[in-house]
Amino acid sequence: MHSEEMSDLNVREARWTERSALVTGAGGGLGRAIALRLVRDGWSLVLLDANNAANQETLSLVEESGGAGATFTADVSDAGAFGVALSQAERVAPPIEILVNNAGIEGTVAPVWSYGLEVFDAVWNVNVRGALVAMQGVLPGMIRRGRGAVVNIASTSAIRGRKGLSGYVASKHAVLGLTRTAALDVAPHGLRVNAVLPGPVRGAMIERIDAMAGGVERAGEARLAEPDDIAAMVAFLSSDDARHINGAAMVVDGASTVL
Ligand SMILES: NC(=O)c1ccc[n+]([C@@H]2O[C@H](COP(=O)([O-])OP(=O)(O)OC[C@H]3O[C@@H](n4cnc5c(N)ncnc54)[C@H](O)[C@@H]3O)[C@@H](O)[C@H]2O)c1
Repeated sequence: MHSEEMSDLNVREARWTERSALVTGAGGGLGRAIALRLVRDGWSLVLLDANNAANQETLSLVEESGGAGATFTADVSDAGAFGVALSQAERVAPPIEILVNNAGIEGTVAPVWSYGLEVFDAVWNVNVRGALVAMQGVLPGMIRRGRGAVVNIASTSAIRGRKGLSGYVASKHAVLGLTRTAALDVAPHGLRVNAVLPGPVRGAMIERIDAMAGGVERAGEARLAEPDDIAAMVAFLSSDDARHINGAAMVVDGASTVL
């Protein structure tokens, strides 16, 4: 591979296993935990994030834990940039059998009558369009090989309202709709597309939302989820044990949505 083609791709480790998992938003709290959990299950990692420094840090942790991976920097909502990154990854990494659509942004907190349209569009672009772009990139290869699964990280905001979070809640409902539709489309090819619906998870995103909301309005769950609680569900859905689970909405929220 020519060096200029490698500009956004960093391959530091060649201890590849037989198959790869592509995790978007891999530099964030949840993406990092998912990547490290999948390493334990024998997956090599293709790590994608818009934030190169954070993504490099995840790669270092993957390597420290004995795994192999490559990073690339791209905005998931940019189909061209995603396509370039994917074709680079396919040249160096083992076949991508898992896609974890985890990249996401929370937008702002404001009542629906004054929620900024630009923020709404930005949230929609990353959370919904980004998931579609990544599926459109990865699914043809999975269909060709007859193997693969997609895990879309939605949220309990896919099945409930949350005050002040119009963009985020609408986008996560859409991610669930996209998941259910994609599941039907891929089922004849032996593939699966599922959604994970985490409740609030300890980390930067929930801190930003709480700060914008000026306090915490949260009830029901015994505690915040830890990123590993969510990563365990992603690992299960990525495994053959989940072979008959398709189009599902797997809630991981410590009972917050059953109130
Ligand atoms: N944290 C929670 O409480 C919680 C709860 C439910 C669902 N989720 C979902 O989990 C996912 C991960 O959240 P997190 O808590 O790790 O957030 P985070 O902010 O820690 O990480 C998000 C990561 O996504 C990356 N990203 C953002 N926009 C991108 C883009 N356009 N292209 C590529 N990368 C981009 C960021 O750089 C960041 O590294 C999100 O989809 C979020 O909606 C989070």
